[in-house]
Amino acid sequence: MLTAITRSVSPAIGRCELEYLERRPIDLAIAAQQHSAYERCLAELGARVISLPAEPDLPDSVFVEDPALVLDEVAVIARMGAESRREEARTLAEALAPFRPLLHLTAPATLEGGDVMSIGRTLFVGESARTNRAGIGQLRELLAPFGYTVAPVAVHGCLHLKSACTYLGNDTILAHRVWIDMAPLREFRIVDVAPGEPWAGNTLTLGETVLIPLAFPATAAILESLGLRVRTLDISELMKAEAALTCSSLIFEAE
Ligand code: GLY
Repeated sequence: MLTAITRSVSPAIGRCELEYLERRPIDLAIAAQQHSAYERCLAELGARVISLPAEPDLPDSVFVEDPALVLDEVAVIARMGAESRREEARTLAEALAPFRPLLHLTAPATLEGGDVMSIGRTLFVGESARTNRAGIGQLRELLAPFGYTVAPVAVHGCLHLKSACTYLGNDTILAHRVWIDMAPLREFRIVDVAPGEPWAGNTLTLGETVLIPLAFPATAAILESLGLRVRTLDISELMKAEAALTCSSLIFEAE
């Protein structure tokens, strides 16, 4: 069964980490409404949604994609690059334990799930402000026994690798090329985000549907022109926290 772990928006989200955005006030009620609509959308698209309670003292904890990586065989609990976020992993690990054996990254490794774009048995991993070489190296060693290849991708100018690009299926990646080294992705067909929509590279594909933020209509039109079934979601309030669509769920198959 397709399973999505999410977590309610923390009342402390206004104190979230920011790397490339200026801080703007976040309306908690609107952020919570948008997050609920996101959870409903995942459910409508066939996912069993397991929504964890809010963490009052962990501002970024709604972004459950970052503290862990869930693969078919195991889940990897990351050591996050943002120190203020490291405690998020504890309760997320508890939530994942019934579904997967857990592996752990340890110091000096840092890695955040937003930096991991998984395509088949290859994990493209952003080397970013949050994920370091030691993190990429440890991930490679932990996952080699399961037959995964880990390929680093340099990220510059955005928070995570998946802030710049996501996989659409059929050997196709939607990307804002300026923020990443495209060389490791050379075997893929690249679809560029629309001019003026640099943050549009983060989409979430569930089954036949590609979700994209409402804020990026021109890129949504490009995806529709490719014959994709596109659905938009308003996450404008969460985007003030440097969020994208993939950040707010961990999606995997489970019994
Ligand atoms: N606010 C999301 C992050 O910086 O991790």
